[in-house]
Amino acid sequence: MASLLSWFSSFSPSPQASDSEPSIEHQRSLLYKQIVQEGNQHYISAHLAELVTNSGNAWPPKATHAESWPPALRPYNVVYQRIAPFLPVRESSLDDAENRRLINKTRALMVALLEEEVSIPDVCETLEDCSRNESELMPMSGWLGFYSCVASLRHAYRWGILPVVREAQNEKTLQFPRELNVPWPYIQSRVGITSPGGSLSSNSYYNLDDRREIVYSITSGMGEDHNRTELWNGLLFVEVEDKALPMYRHIAQAALHLENEDFPSTISTLRTANEELKVAFKHFYDNMNDYNLVPSLWLPYCQGFQGWTLDGINGVSGGQNILIRTLDSFLGIRPWPTEKEESLHLPLAQRNWLNSLRKFDIRALAQEKGNEEVIKQLEHMVTQLRLWRMGHMRRMQRYQVHRPERNKMTAGKSVVKDDSVQVSNDDAMVDHLKEMLSVRLRETK
Ligand code: HEM
Repeated sequence: MASLLSWFSSFSPSPQASDSEPSIEHQRSLLYKQIVQEGNQHYISAHLAELVTNSGNAWPPKATHAESWPPALRPYNVVYQRIAPFLPVRESSLDDAENRRLINKTRALMVALLEEEVSIPDVCETLEDCSRNESELMPMSGWLGFYSCVASLRHAYRWGILPVVREAQNEKTLQFPRELNVPWPYIQSRVGITSPGGSLSSNSYYNLDDRREIVYSITSGMGEDHNRTELWNGLLFVEVEDKALPMYRHIAQAALHLENEDFPSTISTLRTANEELKVAFKHFYDNMNDYNLVPSLWLPYCQGFQGWTLDGINGVSGGQNILIRTLDSFLGIRPWPTEKEESLHLPLAQRNWLNSLRKFDIRALAQEKGNEEVIKQLEHMVTQLRLWRMGHMRRMQRYQVHRPERNKMTAGKSVVKDDSVQVSNDDAMVDHLKEMLSVRLRETK
């Protein structure tokens, strides 16, 4: 509680603030404060407040990295930074035996560095202490950054080389070094996820520093185009959340107004939320372009590493982002993932937020109350979502380039097809994406 109060007091307006335009940072801080204060208005507002407080007192999440961790955990950051330059290569080999040798070499180097740097007894003792004294030894933002670091190390060990190669994709299961296994259950339990691999949260939301630069990079030494594509692969998800937060607050308020049968307030709040959604989607359209995200580089240097495909478990998918899941949940667009599926990759606070919207089911309630204008505003939001899905589908097809060193793989369906023999046809991938999209569009009617 003391730390929450000191966090709030850091938002007090400075004496000069009223004289000049408040900075964007200051406006964000006020928005966080409003959201937390409104947490007692309704169970949806309570879960939005929980989302902010469990995401490093911010949204999009604000993770902190090695400097905020207890000393015993910092070597993980050292190991990642030392291994990072060995991961990417400019030219992939098509020879399985050569690729096996390269994968084994990276893994051996990682094992040696982990053994040299990490003290397992110290890590266990520290994580026990951190888990008992929740925020005192390591703030939540530190846990999020630590999750990002260990997930990045686990993905680095899983693939060994980047672009990922068929030789690693064909592994169905894998034994990880003890240093990478020991902290994982602590992270799973603190963050509230069950996957043995990373998620969009760990690999994108929590992988940026204060200046919004990548902390655990996978394109070291590859040049500007690679670095920029890697950055935007995370940044775009983060920046749309920047734009979406005011809308989250308004949809929570709209639910409260509708419950109270205050129709004029419901309508005006939904109208505002629709405008805010337009801003978030415009940001996506303006920035998902060939300069920020080079189509020939995205799949080999970004998407591949995010996959997991071990023990039948998928890796990171764009579908794990919160904006689109929020809209699906708020607007009642089914089928929703099962709790078991969703808990693989979505931290508990994110799931609680989504489940509160699903439980409320505003479109069903609007039908019941029968106010035409409320229904119209909700349908307008559905239309925006539908158009976004079609636009995203069109753009994402540019990123499905053919790579001879690997099997086709999407995050949504780990290995689509083993094309080790036939290598010239990418239709299976595109068909899979179209099929996935058509299900969502059918439901968005
Ligand atoms: C950074 C550039 C992006 C690229 C290259 C990209 C590409 C893809 C691809 C290839 C898929 C299908 C495979 C999979 O399941 O992962 C996909 C799915 C998805 N992506 Fe993206 N994406 C990008 C950014 C975004 C952003 C910023 C959002 C959210 C605002 C988003 C939301 C989704 C969703 C929700 C799906 C699941 C399908 C659906 O529900 O329509 N993506 N993306």
